[in-house]
Amino acid sequence: QLADSLYIINNFAREYFADTLLNTEEGQNVGLSYFEERGFTQETIRKFQLGYSMNVWDAFTKAALAKGYNLDYLQKTGLVTVRNEQPGDNYRGRVIFPIHNQSGKVLGFGARILVKNDRAPKYINSPENEIYVKNRVLYGTYFARHAIDKLNECLLVEGYTDVISLHQAGIENVVASSGTSLTQHQLRLIKKYTNNLTILFDGDNAGVKAALRGLDMAIEEGLNVKLVLIPDKEDPDSYVQKIGAAAFREFIAANKQDFILFKLQITLQDAGNDTTRKSQLVNEIAETISKIDKTEDFTRQQDYIRQCSQVLKIDEQGLINLVNKFIR
Ligand code: CTP
Ligand code: MN
Ligand code: MN
Ligand code: MN
Ligand code: MN
Repeated sequence: QLADSLYIINNFAREYFADTLLNTEEGQNVGLSYFEERGFTQETIRKFQLGYSMNVWDAFTKAALAKGYNLDYLQKTGLVTVRNEQPGDNYRGRVIFPIHNQSGKVLGFGARILVKNDRAPKYINSPENEIYVKNRVLYGTYFARHAIDKLNECLLVEGYTDVISLHQAGIENVVASSGTSLTQHQLRLIKKYTNNLTILFDGDNAGVKAALRGLDMAIEEGLNVKLVLIPDKEDPDSYVQKIGAAAFREFIAANKQDFILFKLQITLQDAGNDTTRKSQLVNEIAETISKIDKTEDFTRQQDYIRQCSQVLKIDEQGLINLVNKFIR
């Protein structure tokens, strides 16, 4: 009942903001030009149901209250906020990205400021409520699910605009974690469609660390994880807009690396000549390998053992024994 009301309000808001973007002067001059400058086509804007929230106190709030929606519910969605007892719009002067569930219903919104500054957050996202549980959602699932199923691979990016630009470039099997590290719920959502996960993350440290945190959990869930590091200062959105769809596809194909081996290489570099750290590392990698689901693909675990023992310059049988300890 409450959930239904929130869906209805979100759907009204989605239509309202899309209409503001496409059919009002401020929407066109401010919101639409912003999206166009980012290289989004009309078709893309319509497909992702992007919108704009007028830069006035209560344009949406008035429309929603006039429609008869309950103020408590409006606040629950995060669309409306009350200040000095006056209800008003929470996403004023921002462009709007609706966040859909797998069947296309709107769970919530991301609202981006037009010009980045230090006083306000770049994105404001819906608060958690009965329908929006952040760590269960992957942005773009609704638009990506058929392509993920067909290609038997899911690409994972960080942000809304990464998903959108890749779609526009014809790469449709892509979802976003929305800037947080992956949760088990999200991994299981991916597993409904495929076992092959390719993470496209910023080459910066934060990007790599976020990716590494997701690894063991992804392996435990039985996913086959690959990684592509996007060049410094770029993200998938900026990079595909810069080099074009064909070159971006080639870049992905040429730079896709195995995640377990990647983790091993960078942690090995980290360890340097420290033998204690190195034996710790051998233990860690053995534990990771032990989590690979053997029922699904027996040779995969053996391949890893061979490759990792080569990288670590240790005896293959020794690593096998260690891996087996973790299995028992
Ligand atoms: N994010 C957020 N709140 C912020 C910053 C980021 O919720 N203040 C989330 C958003 O989902 C965002 C993702 O983290 O899409 C990745 O962040 P970032 O790379 O900073 O943003 P971009 O998606 O690249 O957005 P833009 O290109 O518009 O700057
Ligand atoms: Mn499938
Ligand atoms: Mn980043
Ligand atoms: Mn970006
Ligand atoms: Mn980014």
